[in-house]
Amino acid sequence: MSELQTLPRHVAIIMDGNGRWAKAHALQVAQGHRRGTETLRAIIRESSDIGIEALSLYAFSTENWKRSAAEVGALMSLLLEYFTGEIDELDEKNVCIRILGDKDGLPGPQREALLEAERRTRGNTGLKLNIAINYGARDEILRAAKTLARKAQNTEIDPDGITAADFEAQLYTHDLPDVDLLIRTSGEMRLSNFLLYQCAYAEMTFPAVLWPDFSLDDYHRALEAFGARDRRFGGRNE
Ligand code: IPE
Ligand code: IPE
Ligand code: MG
Repeated sequence: MSELQTLPRHVAIIMDGNGRWAKAHALQVAQGHRRGTETLRAIIRESSDIGIEALSLYAFSTENWKRSAAEVGALMSLLLEYFTGEIDELDEKNVCIRILGDKDGLPGPQREALLEAERRTRGNTGLKLNIAINYGARDEILRAAKTLARKAQNTEIDPDGITAADFEAQLYTHDLPDVDLLIRTSGEMRLSNFLLYQCAYAEMTFPAVLWPDFSLDDYHRALEAFGARDRRFGGRNE
């Protein structure tokens, strides 16, 4: 990856297309999700190796509960399997894990495994790996608003003095940089309630490849495309 001049500090990925991949291979949807975890493993390892500062992955949205009990159950089992199986290697790689989303809404064993992964890797100084589970950006923003409203009611803060930094401190992503590059696989071009606040100036790319087929070459292409973007943040670069 030496040809990369400008690496994004924070990459966010909407890992989409597991269902279509399973269908295309005449497999159960759970098999698609299982194959998706292999891509996940490879992308995390690569991000750590090339020195990405923060990687945020959308694994389960607040809207994904609408899926069948069988699919939700399969996803929850995979989640547990993934965290139990990968934690040693991630810890060894100095990865710091943070869960974005409402852990209280998850089944007990999953919640415990996620809390343990966070606890165990808290002091690690390598890749900041954020996994969004039971995450919705609107839910995140609403929670932040409620917390600030409560503080104002208790006269802990003055509503007129609330700054962007005060607001951001209430988000799951507090102390992380804004998203620089958002990748959504499978060709869909929407955010589906992912990091709406943090993506205000994100560069976006929508590779037409299903998540289980997303390769390191595809990832490198997305990172290279980012390096070629002209980011202006509302100003002028001439
Ligand atoms: C993304 O794959 C994974 C999750 C939402 C958990 P999908 O399951 O959404 O795959 P498609 O969109 O049906 O192909
Ligand atoms: C977004 O994908 C959620 C995750 C990848 C976890 P969805 O497949 O749920 O999004 P929609 O329904 O196509 O917008
Ligand atoms: Mg989808």
